Amino acid sequence: DPALVAEGEKVFKKCKACHQIGDGAKHRTGPILTGIVGHGAGVAEGFKYSKDMAQAGQDGLIWTEEELAAFLTKPKAYMKKTKMSFAGLKKEDDVQAVIAYLKSFN
Ligand code: HEM
Repeated sequence: DPALVAEGEKVFKKCKACHQIGDGAKHRTGPILTGIVGHGAGVAEGFKYSKDMAQAGQDGLIWTEEELAAFLTKPKAYMKKTKMSFAGLKKEDDVQAVIAYLKSFN
């Protein structure tokens, strides 16, 4: 849904302080997010994750749309010691839109 992706691009402004996605993306405060939907957690080459995120990845966590929605709604409730210092997205619509945007880079 291109309209949802466009909405998600606006929501992603909140993420851009720390994340890049797409051509030429680099790790910043947060890891590159290109291809993240359906991808393993905590495994981007060259990014230093929190212990908990790295462990979750080793334990097999996959960023399905459901897991992403839970994480992005309340990062620290989802993973107590994540180093993602972001309060979360309050609106369910924003969560769905940003996931559609992320998915458009898969
Ligand atoms: C991790 C998405 C906002 C910093 C992640 C991951 C995702 C994500 C999917 C896991 C990546 C992986 O497993 O490789 C988003 C989205 C955001 C957002 C969609 C906006 C809605 C932010 C902001 C910051 C940030 C604003 C900085 C203040 C980080 C950091 C990690 C991370 C440091 C690594 C977490 C850890 O190792 O525990 N983010 N993020 N993110 N993000 Fe964000």
